[in-house]
Amino acid sequence: MPASWNHPGASPQQDAGTPNVLIGAPYDIGQQWLQNLHVDGRFRVSATKTTIQELVVGAQDINPDAVLLNPGIFGSVSEVVSTVQRLQCDVYLVLPDGVVSEDIEAVREQPNVKSVYVENFNWPELLGAILANTAAKRKFVSQPDSELWRSNSGVVSAGMYNIAIWGRSGGAGRTSVAIGFAEVCAQRGIRTLLVSLAAPCPLPYMMDGLKASTNISEWFARPSVDEGFKNAVQTYKPNLDVIVGLQDAIKENNFMQSPDSNATINDLAIMAARLGYGAVIMDAPTSIMAGAAAAISAANYMVLVARPTIADIIANVEAFRLVVKNLSGRHMIKPGNVVCVLNQMKEGLLPQDDFHRIATEFLQKQDVSSPFPVIATTIKDDIAVPVAQNDGTSAITASEPFARGIHSLTGLILGAADKNNFSAGKPKKKRFGLF
Ligand SMILES: Nc1ncnc2c1ncn2[C@@H]1O[C@H](COP(=O)(O)OP(=O)(O)O)[C@@H](O)[C@H]1O
Ligand SMILES: [Mg+2]
Repeated sequence: MPASWNHPGASPQQDAGTPNVLIGAPYDIGQQWLQNLHVDGRFRVSATKTTIQELVVGAQDINPDAVLLNPGIFGSVSEVVSTVQRLQCDVYLVLPDGVVSEDIEAVREQPNVKSVYVENFNWPELLGAILANTAAKRKFVSQPDSELWRSNSGVVSAGMYNIAIWGRSGGAGRTSVAIGFAEVCAQRGIRTLLVSLAAPCPLPYMMDGLKASTNISEWFARPSVDEGFKNAVQTYKPNLDVIVGLQDAIKENNFMQSPDSNATINDLAIMAARLGYGAVIMDAPTSIMAGAAAAISAANYMVLVARPTIADIIANVEAFRLVVKNLSGRHMIKPGNVVCVLNQMKEGLLPQDDFHRIATEFLQKQDVSSPFPVIATTIKDDIAVPVAQNDGTSAITASEPFARGIHSLTGLILGAADKNNFSAGKPKKKRFGLF
């Protein structure tokens, strides 16, 4: 098992400096926050509480560094204020959009309230504030440099999407889907980082303007913001930055790093979140040992790309089995956060229902009780896709069926995860109707 099978969020070993966070929120939101914090890996979440009473008792028991509060568990502003006064620790509060400013002030006046955020805000900035305040209180680490904590250019990050685009069959369309997914995220206003873990990486030849020589080896050599990250990253279009993969497959073992290395893809994804990226899209190679291992250990969502053939069913049943069974507990991808894209559909090949049924039967034979992931979308075989890529241009622009498929896929993942209350785009209606 490569040493890169390690995720800080999945590790019982916590650094003494890790902030201990208690969440007070309605169940769904609490679960989403919990997941975001676990994925980030820099926090320990002791509990989520869904009532005021449990929250206050929990805070006394646990003595957390920070309480992250959603007003959905309160009935009024005065209840928020009186609860905050009973909590003996730093409080970070997320209010729904449209809250009147006197209410915000009443909460903000409480000395232990560190920050009040209104619904559409920058999640990495909130995490940055918790880390910085906790660090200052404990006086154990140097202050983070200000460049690291700068907020992004007015773009709201939609929680954290660390998405591994994977599959065990080469040529199915992982790279094409990864590029398309990243382009659509960027169009939606999410600051996006596309990272290639494939070696050799084809992106510089499929996306006009990218250089092959500026690549992820910079990150492996110097895993810091000012050196490795800046030297590795290339701006491709507004909101879309790219880290090109290695050109030399021999160097692939760079991806197999010891758990104490800080040059892993996990660290890269965490760094990206701190820098204000809202999505990290990872193009993962078929081989499980190197790049794919790194992608899985850094991801919270996975997209399996397959063609409608028996060969691809076999290959991707195995991919899913690895994720939900063999590697269970070593990553942050819930079985329900894996979806499948059926790409290069042609008349005469397996229809989507047959594909899914056969795949689920194969899984059952291998003692996996989860059904095969939902088919998020099917994409027709369209010659315009490789033609555009041969020219270094966007397959989304060139191919209507491809664009439609990618939009359904992003709609499923980003739309579903938008429930987390940190949505990009238009402000939502008030959820709680409280204040
Ligand atoms: N929907 C599609 N229709 C036609 N060709 C496609 C489609 N999707 C991908 N391709 C082509 O298939 C080939 C393999 O795709 P690629 O994305 O490189 O797959 P992978 O990364 O899984 O190996 C490329 O030439 C690509 O242009
Ligand atoms: Mg590829």
